[in-house]
Amino acid sequence: MTKLLDGNKLASEIKKEICKEIEEKIIKKKKRLPHLGIILMGDNFSSKTYVNSKIKECKNTGIKSTLIHLSSSTSERELLEKIKEMNNNPLIDGFIVQLPLEKHIDQEKIILSIDPKKDVDGFHPENFGKMALGMKSFFPATALGILTILDRNKINISGKHTVILGRSRIVGSPVSILMSRKIDPGNSTVTITHSKTPNIEFFTKQADIIVVALGIPGFIKSNMIKEGSIILDVGINTIKKNKKTILIGDVDFHSVYGKASYITPVPGGIGPMTRIMLLKNTLIAALKR
Ligand code: GUN
Repeated sequence: MTKLLDGNKLASEIKKEICKEIEEKIIKKKKRLPHLGIILMGDNFSSKTYVNSKIKECKNTGIKSTLIHLSSSTSERELLEKIKEMNNNPLIDGFIVQLPLEKHIDQEKIILSIDPKKDVDGFHPENFGKMALGMKSFFPATALGILTILDRNKINISGKHTVILGRSRIVGSPVSILMSRKIDPGNSTVTITHSKTPNIEFFTKQADIIVVALGIPGFIKSNMIKEGSIILDVGINTIKKNKKTILIGDVDFHSVYGKASYITPVPGGIGPMTRIMLLKNTLIAALKR
Protein backbone atom coordinates (compact mmCIF):
# COMPACT_ATOMS: atom_id res chain seq x y z
CA MET A 1 0.00 0.00 0.00
CA THR A 2 1.23 3.50 -0.81
CA LYS A 3 0.92 6.19 1.85
CA LEU A 4 0.63 9.85 0.98
CA LEU A 5 3.13 12.25 2.53
CA ASP A 6 0.74 15.15 3.08
CA GLY A 7 2.69 18.41 2.78
CA ASN A 8 -0.38 20.60 3.34
CA LYS A 9 -1.15 18.97 6.69
CA LEU A 10 2.44 19.05 7.94
CA ALA A 11 2.98 22.62 6.73
CA SER A 12 -0.10 23.74 8.66
CA GLU A 13 1.23 22.03 11.82
CA ILE A 14 4.58 23.78 11.38
CA LYS A 15 2.72 27.04 10.72
CA LYS A 16 1.12 26.71 14.17
CA GLU A 17 4.57 26.15 15.72
CA ILE A 18 5.89 29.26 13.95
CA CYS A 19 2.90 31.32 15.12
CA LYS A 20 3.47 30.12 18.70
CA GLU A 21 7.14 31.04 18.52
CA ILE A 22 6.30 34.48 17.11
CA GLU A 23 3.78 34.98 19.93
CA GLU A 24 6.20 33.93 22.68
CA LYS A 25 9.51 35.26 21.44
CA ILE A 26 8.41 38.38 19.58
CA ILE A 27 4.91 39.64 20.40
CA LYS A 28 5.10 39.05 24.18
CA LYS A 29 8.51 40.71 24.25
CA LYS A 30 7.10 43.65 22.30
CA LYS A 31 9.57 43.16 19.49
CA ARG A 32 8.96 43.98 15.86
CA LEU A 33 7.28 41.26 13.73
CA PRO A 34 9.54 39.31 11.33
CA HIS A 35 9.69 40.93 7.90
CA LEU A 36 10.45 39.13 4.61
CA GLY A 37 11.42 41.03 1.47
CA ILE A 38 10.81 39.57 -1.98
CA ILE A 39 12.31 40.85 -5.22
CA LEU A 40 10.52 39.57 -8.31
CA MET A 41 11.60 40.46 -11.79
CA GLY A 42 9.46 40.05 -14.92
CA ASP A 43 6.18 38.29 -15.55
CA ASN A 44 7.05 34.59 -15.50
CA PHE A 45 3.72 32.95 -14.63
CA SER A 46 5.17 30.29 -12.29
CA SER A 47 7.39 32.79 -10.46
CA LYS A 48 4.43 35.14 -9.92
CA THR A 49 2.31 32.26 -8.62
CA TYR A 50 5.07 31.10 -6.21
CA VAL A 51 5.64 34.64 -4.95
CA ASN A 52 1.91 35.23 -4.39
CA SER A 53 1.71 32.01 -2.36
CA LYS A 54 4.72 33.06 -0.27
CA ILE A 55 3.10 36.43 0.46
CA LYS A 56 -0.20 34.75 1.39
CA GLU A 57 1.62 32.34 3.71
CA CYS A 58 3.37 35.30 5.39
CA LYS A 59 -0.02 36.95 6.05
CA ASN A 60 -1.36 33.72 7.59
CA THR A 61 1.56 33.53 10.00
CA GLY A 62 1.87 37.14 11.10
CA ILE A 63 5.08 37.71 9.15
CA LYS A 64 5.29 41.03 7.32
CA SER A 65 6.24 40.96 3.67
CA THR A 66 7.32 43.57 1.15
CA LEU A 67 7.32 42.79 -2.56
CA ILE A 68 9.43 44.73 -5.03
CA HIS A 69 8.17 43.80 -8.49
CA LEU A 70 10.53 44.95 -11.24
CA SER A 71 9.86 44.89 -14.97
CA SER A 72 11.67 42.33 -17.13
CA SER A 73 13.71 45.14 -18.73
CA THR A 74 15.20 46.29 -15.40
CA SER A 75 18.97 46.57 -15.71
CA GLU A 76 21.41 44.58 -13.58
CA ARG A 77 22.59 47.85 -12.00
CA GLU A 78 19.01 48.76 -10.93
CA LEU A 79 18.46 45.27 -9.53
CA LEU A 80 21.73 45.49 -7.57
CA GLU A 81 20.54 48.86 -6.23
CA LYS A 82 17.30 47.27 -4.93
CA ILE A 83 19.29 44.49 -3.27
CA LYS A 84 21.51 47.09 -1.61
CA GLU A 85 18.38 48.80 -0.27
CA MET A 86 17.14 45.49 1.20
CA ASN A 87 20.60 44.74 2.65
CA ASN A 88 20.71 48.15 4.33
CA ASN A 89 17.08 48.33 5.46
CA PRO A 90 17.07 47.50 9.21
CA LEU A 91 13.33 46.72 9.02
CA ILE A 92 13.89 43.78 6.63
CA ASP A 93 15.05 40.61 8.43
CA GLY A 94 15.59 38.49 5.35
CA PHE A 95 14.83 38.61 1.65
CA ILE A 96 14.86 36.53 -1.51
CA VAL A 97 15.36 37.28 -5.18
CA GLN A 98 12.96 34.99 -7.02
CA LEU A 99 14.69 32.79 -9.60
CA PRO A 100 15.03 32.35 -12.53
CA LEU A 101 16.18 35.82 -13.53
CA GLU A 102 16.02 37.35 -17.00
CA LYS A 103 18.78 36.32 -19.44
CA HIS A 104 20.58 39.70 -19.33
CA ILE A 105 21.13 39.38 -15.56
CA ASP A 106 24.17 37.60 -14.10
CA GLN A 107 22.54 35.34 -11.49
CA GLU A 108 25.80 34.63 -9.63
CA LYS A 109 26.57 38.35 -9.30
CA ILE A 110 23.06 38.92 -7.91
CA ILE A 111 23.25 36.12 -5.35
CA LEU A 112 26.72 37.26 -4.26
CA SER A 113 25.38 40.75 -3.59
CA ILE A 114 22.83 39.51 -0.99
CA ASP A 115 23.93 39.97 2.62
CA PRO A 116 24.46 36.35 3.86
CA LYS A 117 22.75 37.30 7.15
CA LYS A 118 19.59 38.15 5.21
CA ASP A 119 19.88 35.30 2.68
CA VAL A 120 16.85 33.28 3.84
CA ASP A 121 17.02 31.24 0.60
CA GLY A 122 20.44 29.92 1.68
CA PHE A 123 21.77 30.40 -1.87
CA HIS A 124 24.72 32.72 -1.08
CA PRO A 125 28.06 30.85 -1.35
CA GLU A 126 28.79 31.68 2.31
CA ASN A 127 25.61 29.91 3.47
CA PHE A 128 25.85 27.15 0.86
CA GLY A 129 29.50 26.52 1.78
CA LYS A 130 28.69 26.41 5.48
CA MET A 131 25.91 23.92 4.78
CA ALA A 132 28.34 21.75 2.77
CA LEU A 133 30.79 21.81 5.69
CA GLY A 134 28.12 20.85 8.23
CA MET A 135 28.08 24.30 9.84
CA LYS A 136 25.00 26.26 10.90
CA SER A 137 23.53 28.44 8.15
CA PHE A 138 20.31 29.08 6.28
CA PHE A 139 19.39 25.92 4.37
CA PRO A 140 17.52 26.21 1.03
CA ALA A 141 13.80 25.89 1.71
CA THR A 142 12.95 23.01 -0.65
CA ALA A 143 15.79 20.82 0.64
CA LEU A 144 14.81 21.61 4.21
CA GLY A 145 11.17 20.84 3.37
CA ILE A 146 12.15 17.42 1.98
CA LEU A 147 14.24 16.55 5.03
CA THR A 148 11.47 17.73 7.35
CA ILE A 149 8.64 15.81 5.66
CA LEU A 150 10.72 12.61 5.91
CA ASP A 151 11.78 13.26 9.49
CA ARG A 152 8.32 14.19 10.79
CA ASN A 153 6.86 11.07 9.18
CA LYS A 154 9.53 9.06 11.03
CA ILE A 155 11.17 7.88 7.83
CA ASN A 156 14.76 7.09 8.68
CA ILE A 157 17.11 7.98 5.81
CA SER A 158 20.33 6.76 7.45
CA GLY A 159 22.00 4.04 5.34
CA LYS A 160 19.29 4.29 2.67
CA HIS A 161 20.19 4.85 -0.95
CA THR A 162 18.77 8.14 -2.20
CA VAL A 163 18.77 8.83 -5.92
CA ILE A 164 18.29 12.47 -6.87
CA LEU A 165 17.22 13.50 -10.37
CA GLY A 166 18.43 17.02 -11.09
CA ARG A 167 21.43 18.97 -9.71
CA SER A 168 20.13 22.55 -9.39
CA ARG A 169 21.25 24.92 -6.64
CA ILE A 170 17.58 25.20 -5.58
CA VAL A 171 16.87 21.47 -5.11
CA GLY A 172 19.23 18.68 -6.26
CA SER A 173 22.52 20.01 -4.98
CA PRO A 174 21.38 21.09 -1.46
CA VAL A 175 19.27 17.93 -1.02
CA SER A 176 22.35 15.82 -1.81
CA ILE A 177 24.40 17.72 0.80
CA LEU A 178 21.79 17.57 3.56
CA MET A 179 20.82 13.94 3.04
CA SER A 180 24.41 12.69 3.05
CA ARG A 181 25.72 14.81 5.95
CA LYS A 182 27.13 13.09 8.99
CA ILE A 183 24.37 13.99 11.43
CA ASP A 184 20.79 12.95 11.98
CA PRO A 185 18.73 13.34 9.79
CA GLY A 186 21.36 12.47 7.20
CA ASN A 187 23.80 9.62 6.59
CA SER A 188 22.01 8.60 3.41
CA THR A 189 24.04 7.19 0.50
CA VAL A 190 23.33 9.67 -2.27
CA THR A 191 23.56 9.37 -6.05
CA ILE A 192 22.93 12.48 -8.15
CA THR A 193 21.72 11.93 -11.69
CA HIS A 194 21.10 14.60 -14.31
CA SER A 195 20.56 15.31 -18.00
CA LYS A 196 23.93 13.75 -18.94
CA THR A 197 23.35 10.53 -16.98
CA PRO A 198 22.78 7.63 -19.38
CA ASN A 199 20.22 5.01 -18.33
CA ILE A 200 18.74 6.86 -15.35
CA GLU A 201 16.45 3.92 -14.53
CA PHE A 202 19.55 1.82 -13.74
CA PHE A 203 19.90 4.09 -10.68
CA THR A 204 16.24 4.73 -9.86
CA LYS A 205 15.55 0.97 -9.78
CA GLN A 206 18.11 0.63 -6.96
CA ALA A 207 16.83 3.60 -4.95
CA ASP A 208 15.23 3.36 -1.51
CA ILE A 209 14.37 7.06 -1.84
CA ILE A 210 13.89 9.04 -5.07
CA VAL A 211 13.92 12.84 -5.18
CA VAL A 212 12.88 14.10 -8.58
CA ALA A 213 13.25 17.73 -9.65
CA LEU A 214 13.56 17.66 -13.43
CA GLY A 215 10.56 19.65 -14.62
CA ILE A 216 9.47 16.79 -16.91
CA PRO A 217 5.79 15.92 -16.33
CA GLY A 218 5.20 12.27 -15.36
CA PHE A 219 8.84 11.24 -15.95
CA ILE A 220 9.06 8.57 -13.20
CA LYS A 221 6.96 5.51 -14.04
CA SER A 222 6.29 2.27 -12.21
CA ASN A 223 8.91 0.29 -14.22
CA MET A 224 11.64 2.72 -13.08
CA ILE A 225 11.26 2.14 -9.33
CA LYS A 226 11.67 -0.76 -6.94
CA GLU A 227 8.84 -2.07 -4.76
CA GLY A 228 8.47 -0.08 -1.54
CA SER A 229 10.55 2.94 -2.54
CA ILE A 230 9.85 6.41 -1.16
CA ILE A 231 9.14 9.06 -3.78
CA LEU A 232 9.50 12.81 -3.29
CA ASP A 233 8.15 14.72 -6.26
CA VAL A 234 9.44 18.30 -6.52
CA GLY A 235 8.13 18.90 -10.05
CA ILE A 236 5.37 21.45 -10.55
CA ASN A 237 4.32 21.36 -14.21
CA THR A 238 1.27 22.95 -15.77
CA ILE A 239 -0.34 20.96 -18.56
CA LYS A 240 -3.61 21.25 -20.47
CA LYS A 241 -6.09 18.40 -19.99
CA ASN A 242 -9.66 18.47 -21.32
CA LYS A 243 -9.25 22.22 -21.95
CA LYS A 244 -8.31 22.75 -18.30
CA THR A 245 -4.89 23.74 -16.97
CA ILE A 246 -3.78 21.31 -14.27
CA LEU A 247 -0.69 20.90 -12.10
CA ILE A 248 1.22 17.65 -12.28
CA GLY A 249 4.56 16.52 -10.89
CA ASP A 250 7.59 14.78 -12.39
CA VAL A 251 6.14 11.45 -11.27
CA ASP A 252 3.39 9.54 -13.05
CA PHE A 253 1.39 9.32 -9.83
CA HIS A 254 -1.13 6.67 -10.93
CA SER A 255 1.60 4.48 -12.40
CA VAL A 256 3.72 4.32 -9.21
CA TYR A 257 0.79 4.36 -6.76
CA GLY A 258 0.60 0.88 -5.21
CA LYS A 259 4.29 0.10 -5.84
CA ALA A 260 5.92 2.91 -3.82
CA SER A 261 5.63 2.82 -0.02
CA TYR A 262 5.30 6.63 0.28
CA ILE A 263 4.74 9.42 -2.21
CA THR A 264 4.30 13.19 -2.06
CA PRO A 265 1.33 14.41 -4.10
CA VAL A 266 1.44 17.35 -6.53
CA PRO A 267 -0.02 19.75 -5.55
CA GLY A 268 0.05 19.46 -1.76
CA GLY A 269 3.41 17.74 -1.19
CA ILE A 270 6.75 19.52 -1.33
CA GLY A 271 5.29 22.91 -2.45
CA PRO A 272 3.68 23.85 0.90
CA MET A 273 6.73 22.49 2.75
CA THR A 274 9.01 24.81 0.75
CA ARG A 275 6.87 27.85 1.55
CA ILE A 276 6.72 27.12 5.27
CA MET A 277 10.49 26.52 5.47
CA LEU A 278 11.09 29.96 3.96
CA LEU A 279 8.99 31.43 6.79
CA LYS A 280 10.95 29.39 9.32
CA ASN A 281 14.21 30.81 7.94
CA THR A 282 12.71 34.32 8.11
CA LEU A 283 11.78 33.77 11.75
CA ILE A 284 15.32 32.53 12.49
CA ALA A 285 16.72 35.67 10.81
CA ALA A 286 14.38 37.87 12.88
CA LEU A 287 15.33 36.15 16.13
CA LYS A 288 19.04 36.69 15.36
CA ARG A 289 18.49 40.41 14.77
N1 GUN B 1 12.47 29.65 -7.78
C1 GUN B 1 12.01 28.40 -7.57
N2 GUN B 1 12.18 28.04 -6.27
C2 GUN B 1 12.79 29.09 -5.66
C3 GUN B 1 13.23 29.31 -4.32
O1 GUN B 1 13.11 28.47 -3.41
N3 GUN B 1 13.82 30.54 -4.10
C4 GUN B 1 13.99 31.47 -5.09
N4 GUN B 1 14.58 32.62 -4.77
N5 GUN B 1 13.59 31.27 -6.34
C5 GUN B 1 12.99 30.09 -6.63
